[in-house]
Amino acid sequence: MVEVPLKDPSMVVRSAEPYNAGPPLETLRMSLLTPVQLFFVRNHGTVPVVDAAAYRLTVSGLVDRELRLSLVALQREFAPSTVAATIQCAGNRRRELNAVRSIEGEIPWDAEAVGTATWTGVPLGAVLRAAGARDLGRYVHLLGLDTVATDTQGFGGSIPLEKAMSPEVLLAYEMNGSPLLPVHGFPLRVVVPGYIGARSVKWLRSIFVAAEPSRNYFQSHAYKWFPPHIRAQTVDWTAGLTLTEPPVSAVICTPREGQRLQAGHLTTTGYAFAGGGRQIARVEVSADGGMHWEAAQLVGEAHAWAWRFWEAHLRLLPGRRPIVARAEDSAGAGQPPEPASVWNFKGYVNNAWHRVTVEVV
Ligand code: MTE
Repeated sequence: MVEVPLKDPSMVVRSAEPYNAGPPLETLRMSLLTPVQLFFVRNHGTVPVVDAAAYRLTVSGLVDRELRLSLVALQREFAPSTVAATIQCAGNRRRELNAVRSIEGEIPWDAEAVGTATWTGVPLGAVLRAAGARDLGRYVHLLGLDTVATDTQGFGGSIPLEKAMSPEVLLAYEMNGSPLLPVHGFPLRVVVPGYIGARSVKWLRSIFVAAEPSRNYFQSHAYKWFPPHIRAQTVDWTAGLTLTEPPVSAVICTPREGQRLQAGHLTTTGYAFAGGGRQIARVEVSADGGMHWEAAQLVGEAHAWAWRFWEAHLRLLPGRRPIVARAEDSAGAGQPPEPASVWNFKGYVNNAWHRVTVEVV
């Protein structure tokens, strides 16, 4: 197993190279701000070794002034901003889709490809204003320094200019108050709160303002959503939906699948998250597979771009008991009962009711 400095030994390593890993769910649920050593990592290629002193970020495309900024210049010329935000991979909860129909060549994440941190950096909008982004520019292309097999340019993507100008979107150099770890994008990454994690490009090399979305593989092929009947062999990539804001989803962190529990009272805990800055309006939990529901308590305060923890009290009778959780967000959106209805051949944004079956004795 590869050892990534400062990552916790409890991390479940999904692939050693590229390094992809996440924490056990019960550990993830222990802290509203995920400690850096437990924060999941999703890498498509190499982790570049970047010399912070030699690092330059370029800003070009439909701008009045091209910029070439060192890290020091970025920190000196723009006011810092801090946002508490959840990053959730579009592949989070793919394991349940895999159980419906196998998904080839993708990481079978359980529900651990998510984490919340405070991110400190400079608003992307301030940098775009300094460059004089023109009206013709509708998209902001973001490109990383890593080498990936699928695109000669490296890992990249784009976000609408309107989102890029929102104050929560940061060029971040700190995570939970410390400089980014190499695996999280040192020295500079984008953080796009409310969007799927793929748009939060790490090891940011360049920003390019354009009239069209990026043609990078990770924008034009990967991270698109297709309906359940579409297969990899027959896909028309231009027809897919570009994934942006993940749908509302509640996840049970404790108890774990297959756990043996004593009959009687159980406190079940979990997290819930919705993209687009939507809040968690309510979480409900069932101890009988979804016939009867109990309201869960939402824990702590709501933060605009962060997940919400919840807990619920159930009474368990002996037998095999399917515990189920579902949430509704502030826009009134809920979750579908079955993963089959949201299955897609890349295994993205599964938000079916989350189920954990326990043995009660
Ligand atoms: N940026 C680059 N340059 N290369 C990558 O492979 N992975 C993306 C995104 N940014 C990726 C990237 C994906 S799919 C996710 S979910 C998040 O980074 C994960 O961020 P983390 O590894 O810091 O948790």
